[in-house]
Amino acid sequence: MSSTNNRVVRTETALGAEAQLAARARQVLRQNDMGDWTRAAPNLYPHQWSWDSAFIAIGLAHLGTRRAAKELLTLFEHQWRTGKVPHIVFNPEAPPDSYFPGPEHWACAAASPDAPPAPPYTSCLCQPPAHAIAALRVWEVAERKGGEGVDEARAFLRQIYPKLLLWHRYLMTHRDPEGSGLVTIYHPWESGTDNSPRWDAALEAVEVGDLPPYPRYDLRHVANPSERPTRADYDRYLWLVKLIKKAGCDEESIYRSHPFLVKDVLFSAIVVAANEALLEIAALVGAEAGDHTLIANWIARGHQGLNSLWDPELGLSLDYDLRAGRPLRARTVAGFAPLVAGRQSTERLETLITALESSAFTGHPWLRWPVPPSTSPLQEGFRRRSYWRGPTWPVVNWLLWWSLLRAGQSERAQRLRQASLQQLVIGGLGEYFDPFTGELLGANDQSWTAAVALDWLATQGCGALRRTATLLQPGRYETIRNGTSDPLGSVRTA
Ligand code: DGY
Repeated sequence: MSSTNNRVVRTETALGAEAQLAARARQVLRQNDMGDWTRAAPNLYPHQWSWDSAFIAIGLAHLGTRRAAKELLTLFEHQWRTGKVPHIVFNPEAPPDSYFPGPEHWACAAASPDAPPAPPYTSCLCQPPAHAIAALRVWEVAERKGGEGVDEARAFLRQIYPKLLLWHRYLMTHRDPEGSGLVTIYHPWESGTDNSPRWDAALEAVEVGDLPPYPRYDLRHVANPSERPTRADYDRYLWLVKLIKKAGCDEESIYRSHPFLVKDVLFSAIVVAANEALLEIAALVGAEAGDHTLIANWIARGHQGLNSLWDPELGLSLDYDLRAGRPLRARTVAGFAPLVAGRQSTERLETLITALESSAFTGHPWLRWPVPPSTSPLQEGFRRRSYWRGPTWPVVNWLLWWSLLRAGQSERAQRLRQASLQQLVIGGLGEYFDPFTGELLGANDQSWTAAVALDWLATQGCGALRRTATLLQPGRYETIRNGTSDPLGSVRTA
């Protein structure tokens, strides 16, 4: 499988290995299936996580439209009145000592007038909104397959559309009171990339007060504690949770007093891509023209915000610490945010691809597979076995693959897909991987890893993304934004 420099990737993964991987991925999703929703992983994560569920729905789409739709609809049953989709919905059946901080830790969040009825309890944080991207994918897969799934998918889009709109409105208002086009996060857990060096400087400024002793159940489920965030990280995480709860989960109070307020560049880019998907869903369900204009304006604002966070020297985008009033300089995969947002100039796209393929990322000579480490090995704070400080994450590979396809980079996308699949064939369906050895780290049988594997195996080229690509043509987008064209124009109405 590997050459002397360990980096030659076969153009095709053996068909037998692919079939076995698909069977194993289906088995993982079945095993973690709780009926209407899916555990993120069997032991380490026994609850429903928000952005995990979005990617899980993408995988489930290949197994059946109804169950894929249910995954997202179940999550959105717990949407807050403000539109927020909680980052965790707690499984009332999970043993109390299976995860910390569990439902009892978040129970007081249920006292917020905006919280949904409990139990099940939810956290009051949120995570990147990949949900509209997933909902559109469920539709695309159903449409490609034909049959009764098409009607189910159409009904699903009608049901989920207003919920998605409310969710995005929450992000574009409560999480962006400045109207910058960039989303503010209150906690590294909201980024989904918890202990990334992205947050080191902002977290250092957080002074931790008195905390009662707390358990680390997560450490029971990994081979080595170095794979998870440290005690010092957790102290800060729990302190920030305490402050958010003290503020009654009230957005304005948090914004006034919270010590960790960061404009998250990857989250913001996912919002832009999700708004592109939402715009297409709006057309499919026949939403009012005003919705189209609103969403197109969110997209434009998102691009402006992202442009302001571009670092020409690194050829990457950076997060911005609102408290300190400065960018957070770290070379991580989040820097490829403009690629995820899409619609970049040729020059910017070339710069991003050069950075992606440089020795800072997929071109690093020690990599087992040419897939991007979560943190560049050239970045201070890189640790190859520690959660988001170095390991490679299949779901990030999926996001970049999908983004490359949308950018018309199908050969590059195909190479990334092949390397990612080979990593999973050899390494298993783990949560994350040592970038140098390919060793599986974190949880085994991670649902979103199984899900993206299924999606890759079902998608050879960019056919499934054709409509999205059409929407990315600048001319058409501009006319929607200015309200000068019929937004339903060339897109079929469901
Ligand atoms: C965890 O427990 O590791 C999660 O990322 C927090 O949501």
